[in-house]
Amino acid sequence: MKSQVIVKKEILSRINSYIDLDSFLTLIITDNAVPAIYCQAVASQAANAFIFTMSHGEIHKSLETYYDIISFMLEKGFSRNDRIIAVGGGVVGDMAGFVASSYMRGIDFYYVPTTLLSQVDASVGGKNAINVDGVKNVIGAFYFPKIVIIDPQTLNTLPQRQLYNGLSEAIKMAACFDEQLFSLIENSTNLKEDLPIIIKKAVAIKESVVANDPFETDQRRVLNFGHTIGHAVEAASNGEILHGEAVSIGMLRFAGPNAAPRIKAVLEKYQLPTECDIEPSVLRQYIIHDKKSVGDNIMVVKVDEIGSYKFESININQII
Ligand SMILES: NC(=O)c1ccc[n+]([C@@H]2O[C@H](COP(=O)([O-])OP(=O)(O)OC[C@H]3O[C@@H](n4cnc5c(N)ncnc54)[C@H](O)[C@@H]3O)[C@@H](O)[C@H]2O)c1
Ligand SMILES: [Zn+2]
Repeated sequence: MKSQVIVKKEILSRINSYIDLDSFLTLIITDNAVPAIYCQAVASQAANAFIFTMSHGEIHKSLETYYDIISFMLEKGFSRNDRIIAVGGGVVGDMAGFVASSYMRGIDFYYVPTTLLSQVDASVGGKNAINVDGVKNVIGAFYFPKIVIIDPQTLNTLPQRQLYNGLSEAIKMAACFDEQLFSLIENSTNLKEDLPIIIKKAVAIKESVVANDPFETDQRRVLNFGHTIGHAVEAASNGEILHGEAVSIGMLRFAGPNAAPRIKAVLEKYQLPTECDIEPSVLRQYIIHDKKSVGDNIMVVKVDEIGSYKFESININQII
């Protein structure tokens, strides 16, 4: 189980060399804050394309949107042999992936991620999910896109805060697996120019972790470096603090004395936060409710030396 991932500048204008867009109906799913030029570039290369534009934002990764897309597909006559292409960030990718995994028991799915977070993280690993009653990612499936097409040029329109938000996940992967990638991000003097290589390396790391543990039972938990506290910060902030920013706050607590100064410096270089003013008791409550906790102990990922990691079981009361 694996997607083909292609990272190439300006690939969006040649997407029909990779996906057959002539013989089937194509549903392009995007959201109303993703610049329309990207889905139009895809639609203009397809014989029978329909565009479904969902409202942007986590709140719309919902059953209501799911229903609206399924209805739209039925109305347009989509069959088991047709296909879905998601063009957008992780919200669109999760929504479209879940629709694809379930429409007529699964139809072909392709993903054009357009945020850095979705390029380095959400597009790899085959997970998708939607929210119900404010609970995140409560229903979903493991369903891999056939091809992930990453055009780094799409990041030109992404606000800087969103760009750095995604970079946080790349820094996380570099800290655990790849000292060279970490140095590249640390020393970059032109991030835009270095992004294609950063994306390729981060994707390769995530692909290899997922290949060893496709259903997240064991090694894939390494991807949770920074996430024990990060998830709690993100939830407690009610969406004020973005996911990558919350992970940034969470990473330092589990970095050893050799690794911590470098991690702190690189996060600060990209204006990522390393602390927040949420009450520790509030964070503790969120951590206790986190699905990864077993009894009073929780498995965390620690980085003592950049490029390596270890798992450690620690008491929840020791975390904060
Ligand atoms: N399935 C997975 O493995 C996985 C992994 C990580 C995150 N996720 C999910 O991904 C979501 C977060 O993804 P995200 O950070 O990409 O957020 P997002 O999809 O909400 O995108 C952030 C904002 O940027 C806009 N945008 C997207 N591309 C743009 C572009 N090129 N130019 C300008 N604006 C653009 C979007 O419209 C949105 O308003 C969450 O729902 C999370 O649960 C899933
Ligand atoms: Zn994450």
